[in-house]
Amino acid sequence: MSSIPSDQASNQQWGGRFSEGTDAFVQAFTASVSFDKRMYAEDIAGSIAHATMLNTQKILNDDDFAAIKAGLMQIKAQIEAGQFEWSIELEDVHMNIEARLTANIGIAGKRLHTGRSRNDQVATDIRLWLRATLDLIDGQLKRLQEGIIELAQREYTTIMPGFTHLQVAQPVTFGHHLMAWFEMLKRDRARFSDCRARLNFCPLGAAALAGTSYPIDRFLTASLLDFSGPTANSLDSVSDRDFAIEFAASASILSMHLSRFSEELVLWATPAFDFIDLPDRFCTGSSIMPQKKNPDVPELVRGKTGRVFGHLMALLTLMKSQPLAYNKDNQEDKEPIFDIADTILGCLRAFADMIPAISSKKENMYTRAKLGFATATDLADYLVRKGLAFRDAHEVVGKAVKLGVDTKRDLADMDLAELQSFSQLITEDVFEYLTLEGSVAARDHFGGTAPKQVQAALKIAREYLS
Ligand code: ARG
Repeated sequence: MSSIPSDQASNQQWGGRFSEGTDAFVQAFTASVSFDKRMYAEDIAGSIAHATMLNTQKILNDDDFAAIKAGLMQIKAQIEAGQFEWSIELEDVHMNIEARLTANIGIAGKRLHTGRSRNDQVATDIRLWLRATLDLIDGQLKRLQEGIIELAQREYTTIMPGFTHLQVAQPVTFGHHLMAWFEMLKRDRARFSDCRARLNFCPLGAAALAGTSYPIDRFLTASLLDFSGPTANSLDSVSDRDFAIEFAASASILSMHLSRFSEELVLWATPAFDFIDLPDRFCTGSSIMPQKKNPDVPELVRGKTGRVFGHLMALLTLMKSQPLAYNKDNQEDKEPIFDIADTILGCLRAFADMIPAISSKKENMYTRAKLGFATATDLADYLVRKGLAFRDAHEVVGKAVKLGVDTKRDLADMDLAELQSFSQLITEDVFEYLTLEGSVAARDHFGGTAPKQVQAALKIAREYLS
């Protein structure tokens, strides 16, 4: 490998104007190559598209274009083979690759940067990188939704207590509860998809900030890179990082959702609830307490929420008050974006693997629903159907529940005479409504918890996924 010529006196990329080299600490402090080298493939794709456009527009001749394209492909192969030496003296991924190209192919390499700046280059690279990453995220979100459907299909008749204020409220089916998670993820996917559509415009051609005096074709460059078109204003092109913030915001909402799922799994797995069994492979033990089986995966996913929220705040603050157009501040956009992507891809993968492997403890769920007077609302509704006003029915049932609490019995365990002592409207048929099965089956409308409705929701969900 030939070595890159280095000029001790001043940086080779802008040395002309400078009378001394960059301070060694400043060089390390301002360099971004340690993290932006991750965008090497996007940087090379952007350069090839730019060179193709320059050649089509007769700004770059055929020989130079051929040398540039072959040289960039060779560099890509070297990077992928681990044979590329990154140098912080060359600051970032863009200058590392360009300097290597020039070292390899000579003067043609120096022509690549015609009509371009690192400002439009980096804005393009990060959009390309994020666009590809959004597709990976969408794939994992879909996998998780498939896992939820798989579990919900097994559990659509399983009865569990539904909670408000974390107090037993009304019985629901476990499948219905799981399909609530499915809906949250549907919105997450839509948010990421919106973000993708809005970021999919090509900044190349904006150059440093004002555009370029060469007769470029920005529509051609944009279409070569599968963008919807070029960005509309050169100043905005190089300074806009809205897409990074939108991505972080969408990821934050997703993380918030995952933390809610996590919290429920952690609760359900405690001996106090004992609603589910998390497979051992997603748990760890304790080095001191032999009985422990800890739900590490959901706990860690819950904990990772913090860093995603933090990155959102970092990116908002990064952009706050920035004057147009490009400022070096923007180099700080990448690490948050990369870390958010790594974090949520990891969380989604763990969840997509774990969810379909969960098994429910149906007996415990059922018993707990029964103990909590979960059918009290059903008794009130029954009295309303018999002519009582809802508020009076509420009062009657409240008294019956008080007796149940005092005598440690569910409403369904009382006999008819006892129930009639609260209201003469109560007759033998009341027991159909006091069972958990009757209660869930009665919520038989679109979006309701009845097993029949959960099946209908599963059908719609499968159509959405296909
Ligand atoms: N490393 C820089 C970044 O990440 C590339 C653009 C630098 N442009 C400049 N004029 N200093 O934003």
